[in-house]
Amino acid sequence: MRHLLEMDDLNEPELAAVLDLCDPGRARPVLAGRGAALIFEKPSNRTRNASEMAVVGLGGHPISIRGEEIGLGVRETVEDVTRVLARYHAVIGARVFDHRHLEGMAAVDEVPVVNLLSDMAHPTQVVADLLTLRRRWSALSGRTLAWVGDGNNVARSLVLGCGLAGLDVRLACPPGHRVDPVAVDAARSRGVEVVETDRPADAVDGADAVYTDVWVSMGQEDQAAARADAFAGYQVSAALMAGAAPGALFLHCLPAHRGAEVEAAVIDGPASVVWEQAGNRMHAARAVFQWLLTEAGA
Ligand code: CP
Ligand code: NVA
Repeated sequence: MRHLLEMDDLNEPELAAVLDLCDPGRARPVLAGRGAALIFEKPSNRTRNASEMAVVGLGGHPISIRGEEIGLGVRETVEDVTRVLARYHAVIGARVFDHRHLEGMAAVDEVPVVNLLSDMAHPTQVVADLLTLRRRWSALSGRTLAWVGDGNNVARSLVLGCGLAGLDVRLACPPGHRVDPVAVDAARSRGVEVVETDRPADAVDGADAVYTDVWVSMGQEDQAAARADAFAGYQVSAALMAGAAPGALFLHCLPAHRGAEVEAAVIDGPASVVWEQAGNRMHAARAVFQWLLTEAGA
């Protein structure tokens, strides 16, 4: 039984296979007559809608469940919730505060478990991001992507994904907000270059793509003031983007805060591919579910 809790659950050819399956023409009704349980302990616009429509695209029936409805680890154990849902559903997706809950679900090992965002990782986002770049560039290998801002869940998955896809990475994060060194080392071990700096202009210099995310992730709202201070100077502005390669792309997983991590002129300007990214979330989710249910052997 295979699961997707983080990008390093895939190897290079498996990621390539998942990206190939994102082609709508490759979709097969592998969920016909079957269900998919989608648990959300945090708000979601893109992930819930993309995942539900991905399940529909595979012929299945999605049931989205708010965290408080089932009380993972509170009303009953994570493992008991999982064993029960596995009796009705062919796959479980979950957005959780605590990544260990996903590990507990996967350990039950009765149906594939997909991480729909945790405090640690956001792999289905990164499959969509790599799909977006591949559709723009044809090939990913040899390109350079700059990350500016918080070394958060999205950044961790992105660094691992870039390692698998052959993209060099430059990380501009303030001290205390760096990307998990385990992910940085793992990407380097795949042969890509990962540069860490606290100077956004150095990271962006000549980069083919620039990616940022919110400074305050869901669950960190009590740190908002300290984070506003820590990330001052880390906004992706038009002036910062001017240092990137000609034709460089701007990415953001969304939701975005214009005037904070990104200037409106950038996210609403010609470099921005954020709406393609958002649309690709559905193709990525469908590919992940289909791959887990077919090629990965579930
Ligand atoms: N990018 C992303 O995961 O968006 P949602 O939080 O709206 O699902
Ligand atoms: N880092 C953000 C991503 C939202 C899609 C968060 O965890 O809230």
